Amino acid sequence: MQFATKAIHIGQEPEQGTGAIIPPIYMTSTYVQEEPGRTKGYDYTRAGNPNFSNFEATLASLEHGKYATVFTSGLGAATALISNLSSGDRVVATNDLYGGTYRLFDKVLKNFGIEFHPIDTQDLNAVEAAIKSGPKYVFLESPTNPLLRISDIEAISKIAKKYGVKVVVDNTFATPFFQNPLLLGADIVLHSTTKYIGGHSDVIGGVIVSNDKKLKEKLDFARMAMGLNPSPFDTWLASRGIKTLAVRMERHAANAQGIAEFLSRHSLVTNIFYPGLPGHVNHDIAKKQMSGFSGIVSVEFALSLEQTKQLISSF
Ligand SMILES: Cc1ncc(COP(=O)(O)O)c(C=O)c1O
Repeated sequence: MQFATKAIHIGQEPEQGTGAIIPPIYMTSTYVQEEPGRTKGYDYTRAGNPNFSNFEATLASLEHGKYATVFTSGLGAATALISNLSSGDRVVATNDLYGGTYRLFDKVLKNFGIEFHPIDTQDLNAVEAAIKSGPKYVFLESPTNPLLRISDIEAISKIAKKYGVKVVVDNTFATPFFQNPLLLGADIVLHSTTKYIGGHSDVIGGVIVSNDKKLKEKLDFARMAMGLNPSPFDTWLASRGIKTLAVRMERHAANAQGIAEFLSRHSLVTNIFYPGLPGHVNHDIAKKQMSGFSGIVSVEFALSLEQTKQLISSF
């Protein structure tokens, strides 16, 4: 089955009782038990809901993983993952992480004794040196938000395997349409489904995908124990949004490529970051591990702060 067909059909079986072609929104807090403890798989929506299961099936399939757990947000997903660590454990991470993820590691998790070690994960020597210090995870974001830096997921996964360290990839900017970290050797994929996957700026969500059943059980537990569950309506909306991911990503990438090429010739542009430009410092690695370069372009202009504000306000 092709990507676009999977995005529409996997996890979206018609509803058995009525034949409704689209699964309904299960807005329920709790579920009837025929006798105490006898359920149909769900007992309380903080712990599970058919809309979560449906969206998880779609996401696992698109990321070529066996298991997925959806969360209240991308940061909720990261929180659940890191909650499996203990005081004294270390996480090596890309230093150009999305600011909110950086803040979570640096300002919150540090308080629980989890060591955060940001490095330039574009540099394989730096990665190997950091991995030798025995972290629990290497947490990559590729491309990064905001500077579109690319880490070599396959090469880093090979190094990490040598030392028994798990590789996590925040795949939000690429989406499963353009990049599949599990197929490149990574162990865990994280998304903020708030972005391209939801696709309509009306929902916040996150997910973790892997092939590790024990991890899935731990993440489901963390979601339930810490209240990191999304709402059934939000997951239903995101399931609706993901159906058009393929066509949206094709257009986003074509638009971004056109804008990046135009801006790279512009006299007021001093620096441009887009992995689809041959001049991008890691264009070759991006080409090797991504089937397209996605939709975000970062630019530095030869303008004062005031002029830059004016420019942005005019968009
Ligand atoms: C790359 C990346 N990862 C994670 C997040 C966090 O996701 P959320 O806002 O859904 O918590 C974001 C949000 O902007 C992001 O850009």
